[in-house]
Amino acid sequence: MAAGDKLPSVKSISEDVGYNRHTVMKSLAELVAEGWIESIQRVGYKVVSHLPIENSKRQALSRVAGISSHIDYRFVRSGSALPSYPANRFEYNFSGGQPDLNLFPFDEFKRCMSEVLSRPNPAQLSYGQSAGTPELIDQVKTYPRKSRAITEREIVITNGSQEALFIVSQLLLQSGDKVAVEELGYPPAMSAFSNTGAELVGVKQDAQGMCPDNLEVQILKGNIRLIYLTPLHQYPTTVTLTVSRRMAIYRLAAQHKIPIVEDDYDHEFHYRCQPLPPMATEDPAQLIIYLSTFSKIMFPGARIGIMAVSKAMAKAVTEYRLMICHKSNVLMQAALAKWMADGGFERHLRRTTRVNLQRRDHAVLVLKKTPVLNLLFLMAVWLFG
Ligand SMILES: Cc1ncc(COP(=O)(O)O)c(C=O)c1O
Repeated sequence: MAAGDKLPSVKSISEDVGYNRHTVMKSLAELVAEGWIESIQRVGYKVVSHLPIENSKRQALSRVAGISSHIDYRFVRSGSALPSYPANRFEYNFSGGQPDLNLFPFDEFKRCMSEVLSRPNPAQLSYGQSAGTPELIDQVKTYPRKSRAITEREIVITNGSQEALFIVSQLLLQSGDKVAVEELGYPPAMSAFSNTGAELVGVKQDAQGMCPDNLEVQILKGNIRLIYLTPLHQYPTTVTLTVSRRMAIYRLAAQHKIPIVEDDYDHEFHYRCQPLPPMATEDPAQLIIYLSTFSKIMFPGARIGIMAVSKAMAKAVTEYRLMICHKSNVLMQAALAKWMADGGFERHLRRTTRVNLQRRDHAVLVLKKTPVLNLLFLMAVWLFG
């Protein structure tokens, strides 16, 4: 009942609860004494308008009058500012990295989710196992092997690649370290790195991607502990890091024992020809921490990221994330595994590739007179003039 509500009559309460009227009257008298209800002549009993619990809160605060009820927290860390409005509010949404939700087969995915819910796996719903659901790990092991030639790596499923970027930063960086990043880069990755107290060092880039000569200059200055690359489609310029530069950067990193985060966020969005295989396919020194995401193939809210890493890194990451979130959304992971096993995922990829190719061709037509850096794929187009 809410404050101010009228109680039923003594007679009706005693009939409802099956106690005699004297007992009911005694209980009501006790509630009146405690201040929960009041007895009003010719009206009956009513719930008081200020419940005693609120009164006691007010009294407790007034007893410490003079002390503000709000403290100013001493925030020792901060994140990035939240966007003030969602980009999808606009009819034409030009914000980066947004897949077209109209292309996603929600009904088909709903069936996979519904099957998962009709046969819940208690072991997976409980604590433990923070690397991801075994079914999705199996699917993901097969998929990058087929599509990207990535083999013999441990797979960890993360809450999007952002969680992976954060955990890797926490594991490998500390105040005073430096991280070599592409001069123009992906701001959320930069935030994760600099949150550890590490300094960002922007390495020069041109139409072939990061310049190895400049990277070497920065490495020789000392303290570079991590290199962050988006080799397939540099974010945001879209350029593909050439094979010779990949080799030069890898050689430098191996020589100075610096791990490389390879962020392969949009591997599928490459048309007309096969994309270059990830740097992680040739990684004798186990330097590469390979990240990818389903945010572009499905939608960012799915929060499914992939790490393909060495055994040592997989162990450190899964142990560290126990502190943050214990595990991730197993229902979404199991539904995705089912969707992949049933062939829905590959069908969706074929369909979106076809549609995106048409859109890319149209963009090329419209942008004919404007120089662009890379038109082999489309999640974005980088224009320069
Ligand atoms: C460079 C880069 N990395 C990663 C991501 C995806 O991040 P997440 O998997 O956290 O959604 C994006 C999305 O725009 C991106 O542009």
